[in-house]
Amino acid sequence: MPLVPRHIQELQSYKPGKNISEVKRELGLNKIIKLSSNENPFGPSPLALEAVQKTLKDNFRYPDASAILLREKLADKFDLKLSNVTVGAGSEGVMSAIMRTFLRQDDEIIGAKNSFIGFRVLAKCSGMTAHWGPLRDYHHDLNAMVEYITDYTKLIYLANPDNPTGTYFTVEEFDRFMDKVPERVLIILDEAYFEYADFLDDYPDSMHYRYDNVITLRTFSKAHGLAGFRAGYGFAHETLIENLLKVKLPFEPSWPAQIAAMAALEDNVYIEKTVESCHSGMKQMELAFNEMRIEYIPSAANFLTLVFNNEEEAESFNNAMLHKGIILRHLKSWGLSNCIRITIGTKEENLYFLQQLSSILQKS
Ligand SMILES: Cc1ncc(COP(=O)(O)O)c(C=O)c1O
Repeated sequence: MPLVPRHIQELQSYKPGKNISEVKRELGLNKIIKLSSNENPFGPSPLALEAVQKTLKDNFRYPDASAILLREKLADKFDLKLSNVTVGAGSEGVMSAIMRTFLRQDDEIIGAKNSFIGFRVLAKCSGMTAHWGPLRDYHHDLNAMVEYITDYTKLIYLANPDNPTGTYFTVEEFDRFMDKVPERVLIILDEAYFEYADFLDDYPDSMHYRYDNVITLRTFSKAHGLAGFRAGYGFAHETLIENLLKVKLPFEPSWPAQIAAMAALEDNVYIEKTVESCHSGMKQMELAFNEMRIEYIPSAANFLTLVFNNEEEAESFNNAMLHKGIILRHLKSWGLSNCIRITIGTKEENLYFLQQLSSILQKS
């Protein structure tokens, strides 16, 4: 149809994994464990829930269009100025505003192949030329990405830790990369999982950097347990933020999302419990995979990816798990068709998963 630009006609939309009610309905199961979207298995931060419940009646009003209260709280927490902080409907909301704000015709984009699919969809929507650098041993190959820089390059997207591999690049690798990238190129540093990785000595926490061409993105969807609310944030030089705020949709995030996010930021107890449980769940999984001699990619996030010999094996494992009521994520659309990603759940969920895993392996 001539009304639809070619790059949109050819776009493959983002296909989320199966949801709980779909699986219950399709397979007639009652108990479902969802380990497919890297959500927090403990539900929302209790402080966030309480705050939202108290303010539900205020939602006949539009929220503050520039989300000053939430941005102030973020600036306080991370020792920045209000003018360095933007927010959006999830970190993907901020990502989308970045694409609309800074890209001009003929600009080029660089990202890593097999990295976060949400960014790939946005890059394709923009209609700009995009180059996808290869992964090396499931890691971002920052040296290879630099090779794609041309006079037209405007934007480079890096996810650290990456999704779906869970791998991260180190302080040293990032420093070397930044030395080679011209200042006219904007870097999106997506740290959706930084709470889980921050304990690593060589993880480059972007709060310790001040580059004028880097926008850090973070989210309330993962460690804070607020994925359904849709709240994310970005930190950058004040000129970048000033322009992003002009383009951001006026009332995103919604008021309940802003309220939930502000309360969640103060819920240190919940974050500690979340991160601790994820780290011990990760150990529980790794130990079992090592014992069962199953190949996996070591991860710095709240999920981990199993590597099978081929697509058929991965698909049949995924289906077998689904029939046991466990939803996992087959990574075919990421270009990793022999891989299955598993979100770390509660201790009980992990245990149930591991029991089913060993029973499936015994049968195969
Ligand atoms: C690397 C990465 N960035 C961003 C997002 C999107 O997060 P949000 O819910 O804040 O839009 C995800 C979600 O899976 C992710 O894995």
